[in-house]
Amino acid sequence: MTFLAISGSARRASTTTALLRALQSAATPAHTITVFDRVGELPIFSPDRELPSPPDSVAELANAIADADGLIVASPEYIRAIPGGLKNAIDWLLSCDALIDTPIVLAHASHRGDDMLGQLRLVLGTVSTRFNEAMFLRVPLMKKTPEEIARLLSKDASQTELLDFLTRFAAYCGSAD
Ligand SMILES: Cc1cc2nc3c(=O)[nH]c(=O)nc-3n(C[C@H](O)[C@H](O)[C@H](O)COP(=O)(O)O)c2cc1C
Repeated sequence: MTFLAISGSARRASTTTALLRALQSAATPAHTITVFDRVGELPIFSPDRELPSPPDSVAELANAIADADGLIVASPEYIRAIPGGLKNAIDWLLSCDALIDTPIVLAHASHRGDDMLGQLRLVLGTVSTRFNEAMFLRVPLMKKTPEEIARLLSKDASQTELLDFLTRFAAYCGSAD
């Protein structure tokens, strides 16, 4: 199965993106994960720009979602909310009908950010019939250095947790509901 993993952080040393890359590395050959960490490159959404076709960067992302069996979304919290770049990406994807039947789950790289998570659950449950709120991966990495993250996520227990999450998500993507 193939999954797309979208990071809501545009930061170079993002802990959110690091978690998604760790999922990518933990995947067995049966699963391929592509990490999308370029929400910052999408233009600001406007309904005026939807027609005749969305901008190339948006179409590329929408196509990557259409080609994937499922979508993993991970994001930091900014001012108790979804960062603007990620919300902008979701606005574009709604306008492209790219999310409606897509299985979606959340991963989160912080022990904080529950206001943002609540908003993301509301938004993703609105745009997709297959958002699975119960399936959730949380690995607290906030303020850790890339070296500390690599050390933590390479431990057997972390690898088992990541692989278990992917296995459960793959089963959900393959099921009818
Ligand atoms: C502008 C800004 C606003 C933030 N607001 C919050 C917040 O409201 N609540 C919170 O828990 N963390 C907040 N943070 C901290 C980030 O959510 C936290 O550092 C996160 O782990 C960063 O993720 P990243 O490493 O993937 O970029 C904020 C950070 C920035 C830069």
